[in-house]
Amino acid sequence: MTTPHRLTLTQFLIEERRRFPDASGDFNSLILNVALACKSIARKVACGALLEGGHGDVGGAVNVQGETQKEMDVVSNEVFLQVNEWCGCLAGMASEEMESPYQIADCYPKGKYLLVFDPLDGSSNIDVNVSVGSIFSVLRAPMGEAAVTEQDFLQAGAGQVAAGYAVYGPATMLVLTVGNGVNGFTLDVNLGEFMLTHPAMQVPADTSEFAINASNSRFWEPPVKRYVDECLAGRTGVRGKDFNMRWIASMVAEAHRILMRGGVFLYPRDSKDASKPGRLRLLYEANPIGFVIEQAGGRASTGRQPVLAVQPSSLHQRIGLVFGSRHEVERIERYHNDL
Ligand code: AHG
Ligand code: MN
Ligand code: MN
Ligand code: MN
Repeated sequence: MTTPHRLTLTQFLIEERRRFPDASGDFNSLILNVALACKSIARKVACGALLEGGHGDVGGAVNVQGETQKEMDVVSNEVFLQVNEWCGCLAGMASEEMESPYQIADCYPKGKYLLVFDPLDGSSNIDVNVSVGSIFSVLRAPMGEAAVTEQDFLQAGAGQVAAGYAVYGPATMLVLTVGNGVNGFTLDVNLGEFMLTHPAMQVPADTSEFAINASNSRFWEPPVKRYVDECLAGRTGVRGKDFNMRWIASMVAEAHRILMRGGVFLYPRDSKDASKPGRLRLLYEANPIGFVIEQAGGRASTGRQPVLAVQPSSLHQRIGLVFGSRHEVERIERYHNDL
């Protein structure tokens, strides 16, 4: 036997597929396409202000969320569409940057999966050169040849076939779950390959770090106020230990930190804007990150129920989200149930 070597993402997927001898290979092809899209976006992100078009706003463009689009939101969305459309494994796609589902062009074969993505997460801060990322979720498509509809995408997160994210930080990493734990791959820029560097990632059950946008505190519900107040009280309070607070405003970067060393992230439902029950989007932010975190032994919740159990009602639905170290998320859920 030769010396064991680091697996590439392709080799990892081939080994995973050996568990399913009847698999067609479509799924592996899809994940490799997603990885290719992420590599392409990583290169554009790394160019910074040198990128043609730059990292600034698109002249006046606003997406379906009412957010000003950055040039890189639009470019990253295009990359995801172009790279994944041709592969023959998708029946349709949906994204933060598109109001309605995207139909696969007639010139390409259609397949049995749906791809949902946030092409660039944390993009409002891309011009200050913090870590940003892409988030993706793979769902099963309904059978048949008909065009995909919004309804086809409204599946609870527990039904995801796979999910993950790429984080464009000092190193580019791809973190993936296919429902069998979580594995992290680091981009070897010389080979252009994602290499398995973080097998079987686990979120520690306990932590003394939390992440929340504290400027919203006056809009929080009582259980969230209670939790944060107790953390801030530190070692002299009921928690009996000091906490650190972290806030990058780029959820992928927060999720990655929590996956690496524990912590809890909250973007809870609040009373800031009655039309928005939470900030983050269920289908392409909360569900894929929730699936990754739970597959790593952490927990993801709305505060009231597991996020993966929520039946979505619309493509761009927003939701309160709490995820991370299991014991902290369970505590926050208890505080919600106490009311
Ligand atoms: P996106 O850049 O895809 O629109 O998502 C931004 C999200 C998330 O990354 C982050 O946690 C949150 O918005 C930041 O919200 P604040 O503006 O409240 O900091
Ligand atoms: Mn956005
Ligand atoms: Mn996002
Ligand atoms: Mn985004």
